[in-house]
Amino acid sequence: MSDFKNLKIEEEKGILHITIDREDKLNALNLATIEEFRVVFNEIYDNKQIKAVLLTGAGEKAFAAGADISEIAELNELNARKFAENGQEVFQLIENCPKPVIALVNGFALGGGCELAMSCHMRVASANAKFGQPEVNLGVIPGYGGTQRLTQLIGKGKALELMMTGDMIGAEEAKSLRLVNHVSPTKEEAKVKTLEILGKIMSKAPLAVSMVIDCVNAVYLSEEDGYQMEANGFARCCKSEDFKEGTTAFLEKRKPEFKGE
Ligand code: COA
Repeated sequence: MSDFKNLKIEEEKGILHITIDREDKLNALNLATIEEFRVVFNEIYDNKQIKAVLLTGAGEKAFAAGADISEIAELNELNARKFAENGQEVFQLIENCPKPVIALVNGFALGGGCELAMSCHMRVASANAKFGQPEVNLGVIPGYGGTQRLTQLIGKGKALELMMTGDMIGAEEAKSLRLVNHVSPTKEEAKVKTLEILGKIMSKAPLAVSMVIDCVNAVYLSEEDGYQMEANGFARCCKSEDFKEGTTAFLEKRKPEFKGE
């Protein structure tokens, strides 16, 4: 396995444990982390020893609190489209992984963090998990597939509510909306539940499991254009004054004043 700076990688009994390891930044997904995900998932596809993946964030506070806002703040219309397409591509690699991938969601899963969890095949949360797509607070929209996958998972009305208000929801509400498969009281118990599910899947025929993943993903293939529209919309927002104001306000730790420009 390659060496990684932002991901901690451990293999145990055929299960690869991937931990996003930027705890001081609430495991925010900078571009280097996204690239490490690309490398590790390419290796997972090819490595016969790895049968399943558990993906989580370091510490108790966050799974991942979003894409790294200090990087997003620098985007313009042109590179913003590439930024979104690049993240979409890596998250599709995760979604299409032929081996089971479960997100163990501890604490905040916001923006790109929620999008990352949604690109996994299932989500098991600890009771302190919080989900949301707060990009509107920054003057932008989800760009890593969130407009598509949140709608697929919880339906149009509630997906629109979460993305238009930027509200966060807790683990139990996320479960009632079917965003989350299971909730456990603590991270440790959520890990036990995740390993139990992965263990069960690993006792089945691997080809059949990978075909289930392919066929279920195929339900949404006709929606491919939605991802392109998302990347375009993300880029369009990154050209606006409100986007500059939203990201600057976050970094300056103040409330944004949007002007509609
Ligand atoms: N990108 C970059 N840095 C981030 C980040 C992100 N998405 N989310 C948190 N951080 C950083 C903070 O800037 C802070 O860094 P500092 O200690 O160097 O100042 C550190 O992580 C801790 O975060 P802080 O905001 O102090 O923690 P909190 O408990 O007060 O608030 C959140 C937690 C999750 C509510 C808050 O961090 C937040 O709103 N994050 C952004 C969420 C978001 O908009 N995500 C979508 C991005 S597209």
